[in-house]
Amino acid sequence: MDQEIDIVKSIRQHLEIDSFLTGDFAVRGEGLVVEYMPQVPEQEAVSENLEQVQIKDTQKNSDTHMTKKDAITQLKELSSEIEKCRDCELGSSRVNAVVGEGSVSARIVFVGEAPGANEDKTGKPFVGRSGKLLTKIIEAMNLSREEVYICNTIKCRPPENRDPKPAEKQACRHFLAKQLEIIKPEVIVALGSHAAKSLLEVDKPIGQLRGKFHDFYAQQGAEPIKLMPTYHPSYLLRNYNYNSRKRVWEDMQAVLNELNLPVPTKNPTEK
Ligand code: URA
Repeated sequence: MDQEIDIVKSIRQHLEIDSFLTGDFAVRGEGLVVEYMPQVPEQEAVSENLEQVQIKDTQKNSDTHMTKKDAITQLKELSSEIEKCRDCELGSSRVNAVVGEGSVSARIVFVGEAPGANEDKTGKPFVGRSGKLLTKIIEAMNLSREEVYICNTIKCRPPENRDPKPAEKQACRHFLAKQLEIIKPEVIVALGSHAAKSLLEVDKPIGQLRGKFHDFYAQQGAEPIKLMPTYHPSYLLRNYNYNSRKRVWEDMQAVLNELNLPVPTKNPTEK
């Protein structure tokens, strides 16, 4: 009997979460978003799955020392390096290295912690349940996954989804720094405390780090990149309530503001 109740409860929770995921992410009311503005100019999408490289436009990077073509070539080379990497023990337990995917011209890079089972299987970042929620968040910002870049602090799945060990993070750090150096985003969104702490090299709770921009340096002497820490989508899935959702949404609105992108405004039809 108890078992039956547990099954019913878990099916109900599952359905509730799924209905959240199929709804809009943005918190409505209090003057927050709903009216979607035209998309930012289409950019060059580079999936790390090399067959999927699509060239849509040649805007960003053309005025910097690195052309877009160079950036694509460098990301491809980096991908092969990561796929061959055996610098820590995760290199032998993984099915696929999960390099990252999105646009080489992305203005925003989302950085998660580490690939999970679905990501390990497919070689793509954020494709499981937390990935679906991340997609919702990106779409609520009136962007698409193809316009941003999504990756993780480490590129291989830790067995049983355990926390990455300091040595594993250290071994992988240069790959993420190189990705950021090639893409040169204007803003990095660190998803969750692991990503925020390892990028910023600080030991503070995510609740204290989120809500404001920090400076991230891809390498010594490099120009700082603005970094916004926020809650990880898997935390949101476990705590899908108005307050946690509102905090993430406020962080994303600050990111849009920073980039001079339209911040969804009050929906006049909303009560
Ligand atoms: N969680 C992460 O941090 N990264 C992924 O790619 C998937 C889940």
